[in-house]
Amino acid sequence: MNAGARKILVTSALPYANSPLHLGHMLEQTQTDIWVRFQQSRGHHCRYVCADDAHGTAIMLSAEAAGRTPEAHIAAIQAHHERDSAGFLIQFDHYHSTHSEENRRWSETIFQRLESGGHIHRREITQAFDPEKSLFLADRFIKGICPKCRAPDQYGDNCEACGATYSPSDLIDPVSALSGATPVNKASDHLFFKLSNFETLLTTWINSGQLQAPIANKLREWLDSGLQDWDISRDAPYFGFEIPGYPDKYFYVWLDAPIGYIASHEVLCQQQGDDFDAYWLPGGDTELYHFIGKDIVNFHGLFWPAMLDSAGLRQPTAVYAHGFLTVNGVKMSKSRGTFILAETYLAHLDPEYLRYYFAAKLSSGVDDIDLNLDDFVQRVNADLIGKVVNIASRCAGFLRKKFDNQLSANCSEPELVQSFIDAGDSIAALYEAREFNRAMREVIALADRANQYIDDKKPWVMAKDEAQASAVQEVCSVGINLFRVLATYLKPVLPNMAQKSEAFLCTSLDWTALETPLVQHQLAPFEPLLQRVDAEVVAAMVDASK
Ligand code: MSP
Ligand code: ZN
Repeated sequence: MNAGARKILVTSALPYANSPLHLGHMLEQTQTDIWVRFQQSRGHHCRYVCADDAHGTAIMLSAEAAGRTPEAHIAAIQAHHERDSAGFLIQFDHYHSTHSEENRRWSETIFQRLESGGHIHRREITQAFDPEKSLFLADRFIKGICPKCRAPDQYGDNCEACGATYSPSDLIDPVSALSGATPVNKASDHLFFKLSNFETLLTTWINSGQLQAPIANKLREWLDSGLQDWDISRDAPYFGFEIPGYPDKYFYVWLDAPIGYIASHEVLCQQQGDDFDAYWLPGGDTELYHFIGKDIVNFHGLFWPAMLDSAGLRQPTAVYAHGFLTVNGVKMSKSRGTFILAETYLAHLDPEYLRYYFAAKLSSGVDDIDLNLDDFVQRVNADLIGKVVNIASRCAGFLRKKFDNQLSANCSEPELVQSFIDAGDSIAALYEAREFNRAMREVIALADRANQYIDDKKPWVMAKDEAQASAVQEVCSVGINLFRVLATYLKPVLPNMAQKSEAFLCTSLDWTALETPLVQHQLAPFEPLLQRVDAEVVAAMVDASK
């Protein structure tokens, strides 16, 4: 590892093992992956772990519906998830499962530390119970008539027809959504985590300046309204880990899910010989970041820091939340064909189009991100094909025809090239701050300048005059050097295009080695780096999603 290299561990949220990944998941994984690849390109030791979130009633029921054991079901879905993420060029260093021995051991250990710290209380509660399925029913598994507007078939605790919110026990003629049976009330003992014991810790954390302002505000609201005990147990039958010392009680899925970050990283450390303790014990010089969607901020911003603390483990350096993906301005919808699965996208389009489009839209904020499909086609074609790739393809043509793919002996525009290199500091700062949209704007502005330079020099005019042959070579060599800088800046977003560019340029695109221009350098024959997006293929993808 280089001197000055940071040691960074990054996670994205663990997808549930009961449904395929969609473009919303890919927004999160792409954001995380770009940030990780950026850190690596700057010479830092940065590792990215994730896992499938395999437990809970929903997964148990979906396995049952699929006619499989939960184990077989989660294994099949995890394979599917890993394949789709790989298709989007997401480079996990390790991908694990929360249904693993490592995660069981860590969940038990952490629970025992919470318990011996006096943070676990046992208390009886009464819940709706499905007498036919012999299952306690979470709110979303109860439906009935809305007590306000009398709309039938309303789920859980809010009415989709009139927007009223209520308790599921207020529903008129409630039935179990699983069996149709009338739920009965049933008492049972549950285990609660006393979150209020961590008020001081959480206040410090929320005021640390490490959280995005809207997230800190939301957490502060919860804190101010009084921290409630958190129910961390579920009764059998449940797919999860049985709680040591409490037969037939299981850890609630959200208890062992974030612990999956630890379990996944532990396996990575065993594989790579990294120092696990340096990342998880307090007081080290390592950094820990969790990338998540804004819907799961309470788990990562309140419960998780408290659990870590009471288990004697370190706090996250920061939690980075992003907004939700909408398509054509509205929530993804199956009937509109905009609930697009990762798999469906990949069957039609190149993953780098979407990686670029997401980068061009993502900021450090928590606003929703819209994938407008017309804008997507236009933006990718205009920016990537029309501007960035265009620099390389137009220069490569002249260099191949007249100069045997050889760059000129010296750089005729050192200042221009240097100004591109100098822009790297501010582009790096934008990547670091997750202001990817602004980083992309700077890169595209540089691409405009590179194209302008070539337009001003008009190598196609000079090429008609033998006396200007070396000038043509010089101009095109400058163009190639400018392209090299831009392709390096884009490498975290477009790893495949970077790889093809490296093959063409016969050099690795290394952010830390840009200062030395390519002179008297042999290029490989130019191969197309990226094809235009075809609007008809996008339409076909939408059709296939209906
Ligand atoms: N299993 C939990 C996370 C446990 S983390 C210890 C979960 N799973 S999920 O599959 O529902 O979501 C995984 C991630 O994808 C979450 O961060 C969630 O916010 C994100 N997204 C799911 N749908 C999304 C969009 N439509 N848009 C953007 N992100 C979305 O939550
Ligand atoms: Zn209603």
